[in-house]
Amino acid sequence: MEKIKIFAPATVANVSCGFDAMAFALENLGDEMLFTKNTSGKVSISKIKGANLPTEIEKNVAGFVADVMLKDSNADFGVNIEIKKKYKPGSGLGSSAASSAGAAYAINELLGRPYTKLQLTKFSMLGEEVACGSQIADNVAGVIYGGFVLIRNYDPLDIISIPTPDDLYVSVLHPQIELRTEEGRAILPKEIPLSLAVSQWSNVGGLISGLHTSDYQLIGRAVEDHIIEPVRKKMIPHFDTVKKNALAAGALAVGISGSGPSIFALSKGELQARSVAESFKNTYNNKEINYTTYVSRIGITGVRKI
Ligand code: HSE
Repeated sequence: MEKIKIFAPATVANVSCGFDAMAFALENLGDEMLFTKNTSGKVSISKIKGANLPTEIEKNVAGFVADVMLKDSNADFGVNIEIKKKYKPGSGLGSSAASSAGAAYAINELLGRPYTKLQLTKFSMLGEEVACGSQIADNVAGVIYGGFVLIRNYDPLDIISIPTPDDLYVSVLHPQIELRTEEGRAILPKEIPLSLAVSQWSNVGGLISGLHTSDYQLIGRAVEDHIIEPVRKKMIPHFDTVKKNALAAGALAVGISGSGPSIFALSKGELQARSVAESFKNTYNNKEINYTTYVSRIGITGVRKI
């Protein structure tokens, strides 16, 4: 294979109760990337459309991950990368993860698939470290595995794919302000009361059970965050109103996507998800902030060749 074009999906990390431990991929929102082998033995980035991102290999997460993998595998070729961003970095929808994990998937294909999904996730986490200073697995695992994922353990890394109910949809509101993941992590408490921890891990268990049994109401009750959301929501304009209105419009649950500013809502069925997106628009229409909304089925496949 001399070249490969891929789709790398946007992801919603945390899913409210599962901070740094859960994520899911979107079906129809994500970036396109083209990887072409070259004989220079080096990684280069020739084109980035849709975002103002660095092209230096040590600063660009896709270039960084590609370079690490080509060196790790003693590849006898280099790679040229073209990136088409379809949604904005800093949105809370795993933009850097789409680039990192997209690169990991594509390089593995060009190499003839020597690496497992778990290894691809580890390579992608190096890209996350370049982007935000921490080797977070949730978004990148969502891209690599697709559907819902649980990071059961970080060291050693243990990732579990969780089944996705057929009729589960997500609506997203992306207020066009940029929140850096680093900032969104710096404001979090270092310690939490035991009672809060109990409510949080009970919800994670409930969510996993609801996903396994397609119990939409249980999913709705379990997607609740007692620890991170109360702190981070202060950085997201009108969060409480958006949430109240989306729940009134029939959403199963509403929360912060990753470290924000995007807000996600889960719904049963596409029509319901579209009404929730309408409620997002109605809430934000008379506000001073530009925004975008998306509606997608949960993306079972994750990153793929197109
Ligand atoms: N789990 C991460 C966070 C996702 O919430 O900080 C952002 O990359």
